Amino acid sequence: MSIIKGFHHLTAGVRHAQEDVDFYVKLLGQSLVKKTVLLDGEDPIYHLYYGNPQGDAGTLVTSFPFRQKGVMARPGSGQIRVINYSVPQGALAFWRARFKDFGIVFSEVEVERFGEQRLRFEHPCGIEFDLVASDRDMRMPCVAADIPAEFAIRGVHSITLSLREVAESVIFMQDALDFRYAGQSGDFHRFEVGDGAPGLVVEFQHEPDRLQGSSIYGEGTIHHVAFAVDNVEEQMRIKERLMSMGHIDASESVNRNYFRSMYFKMPGGVMFEAATTDIGFAIDEEPGHFGEEFQLPPWLREREEELLGRLEPISV
Ligand SMILES: [Fe+2]
Repeated sequence: MSIIKGFHHLTAGVRHAQEDVDFYVKLLGQSLVKKTVLLDGEDPIYHLYYGNPQGDAGTLVTSFPFRQKGVMARPGSGQIRVINYSVPQGALAFWRARFKDFGIVFSEVEVERFGEQRLRFEHPCGIEFDLVASDRDMRMPCVAADIPAEFAIRGVHSITLSLREVAESVIFMQDALDFRYAGQSGDFHRFEVGDGAPGLVVEFQHEPDRLQGSSIYGEGTIHHVAFAVDNVEEQMRIKERLMSMGHIDASESVNRNYFRSMYFKMPGGVMFEAATTDIGFAIDEEPGHFGEEFQLPPWLREREEELLGRLEPISV
């Protein structure tokens, strides 16, 4: 059994909170799973979690709307370049029509990569997304009033990392994180864990001439990916493994209220996280009511009024 159980969440810096809600909820049919704040730094910035209605690990993409603070991140290599969402085989025609209705620009990036069809579109802040059609995704569909189950997103399919060099990172994925090398298609290298179904796939895009991007929290880039691990013991097993391989910059286990996080950089410069699945979103809202109210961790609750007063209101 692999130590990594798939994705936990992806986190991006975006522009405005309301347009982010509209993108994930109205356009893509995701549920707002949690509405809280960034737990680093003094200034309140929303932390918005989107995923399936149960908030399952592997469906979660989270946003920090950084326009409020005016901090721009710089896209480049050493970052996650593309978030790939999984849709059922045959669903892309529905999404082409939907994107036309919503005035969203899309393109057919490559008709086929590793035998899968894809459709490229962008978040309003410029972050790239692909829809990838697969008949191997058995996860619960993210249905909405106007998105039938047969076309609905099932969760994160994979991530595409932009890397200037790949050799050391290829070794790292296998030796540190138990991924299998699954093959190459042009400039793309593919890794799988478990049975390699959607949600268990990482891709490298080898871009030797792409300038290095920033790694700060800011608008316009995907800041990190969190992989799911069972608990802190498993998290610390990864940390020990990293240390023994000479990657000594792994963080402590940090309390993120809904999970615990340990952060580390992979050789290509991308920020990775190991997040535990043993706490979850039901600690402050009942299942079925996730994301309905603004939530703060216990250590910030006495500041709720002040923090909310400094955030723009959003409606879902
Ligand atoms: Fe995270």
